Amino acid sequence: MIGPSYDAEVFDHLPRARLATLPTALEGASRRDGSGPRLWIKRDDLTGLGGGGNKARKLEFLCGQALADGARAIVTVGAAQSNHCRMTAAAGSRLGVEVHLVLAGDAPAEGGRQTGNQLLAQMFGAQMHHTGAAESHWGELEIARESLTAELAEQGLAPSSIPIGGSTAVGALGYALAFVELIDQCRSEGFLPRAVVFTSSSGGTHAGLLAGRAALIADGRLRAEEAPDIVAIGVAKGVNLGVPCVAELADAALGLMRVETCVDQADIEVDPRWIGDDYAVPTDAGTAAIEWAARRGGWLMDPTYSGKGLSGLLGLIDEERWDGDDQVVFIHSGGWPALFA
Ligand SMILES: Cc1ncc(COP(=O)(O)O)c(C=O)c1O
Repeated sequence: MIGPSYDAEVFDHLPRARLATLPTALEGASRRDGSGPRLWIKRDDLTGLGGGGNKARKLEFLCGQALADGARAIVTVGAAQSNHCRMTAAAGSRLGVEVHLVLAGDAPAEGGRQTGNQLLAQMFGAQMHHTGAAESHWGELEIARESLTAELAEQGLAPSSIPIGGSTAVGALGYALAFVELIDQCRSEGFLPRAVVFTSSSGGTHAGLLAGRAALIADGRLRAEEAPDIVAIGVAKGVNLGVPCVAELADAALGLMRVETCVDQADIEVDPRWIGDDYAVPTDAGTAAIEWAARRGGWLMDPTYSGKGLSGLLGLIDEERWDGDDQVVFIHSGGWPALFA
């Protein structure tokens, strides 16, 4: 076991707002089709905050820092159906801080209604700024975030401004801690996984998992040869091209954790084959994975993130990357509200 004293040693000096219901469950699932590795699902769709999902873990540290800095507003940015924006809105309502969301796409036409994540973000009381930008034009969205942040700063709100997906070194801390939590759970189930597979878009989840893995190895709590592969299924073009730089984010997170090590480039794996035509454009394999998850475990996955991520994992099983003695964990990062968009 790694245990609470390790968590305290490495994470307790970092500002944190308790927003997520942790630890999330680790559920044993059936094999793909009766053969292949044993699958486990890490239920990060059940982190609780505002409908759950991976961003709750990042927001604990991002909002902790915002409160420590005296922010009276939080600004963030995302796709029209951003889970990160929905969950930031929920965090703001829990913490009593106003939230501004800079979103791709347009406001609903006259007489139209918000749906999915936008409907929920509105219920949580966030102020929405529709930019008209295309979904994957991250640069344009980030410029809009910066100019809104400057406006709110002029109004004296000392805004905390969070980039797309909450993927900063501070946000990545949430997944460094998640990796420690996961290894503890696996050990108490009597195994260590060969791989941890998850959906990657802005890279912060990936960076955090790599940082957690590197930290446990550096601190002698996990032997390098038994450490699981960290396999990112890339669902956005930026992350598939290696932007943002996951190694830089992970190393910066390790710096904040005061662990003197860095990630090995050879450990960074992004599988770009499952995105299809583009970010948020459904694929046949993703649709089949969503159906598989719904019928095998009652798991709700979405076409932009977790469905495509799971399609990558099922595809890797079909390619026989692992054998029947292996155990593989899929981190279910959430995203169900988009099913209603
Ligand atoms: C449901 C879901 N899964 C996975 C991801 C990818 O996480 P990251 O942006 O940290 O790569 C996101 C990001 O928006 C998400 O909303």
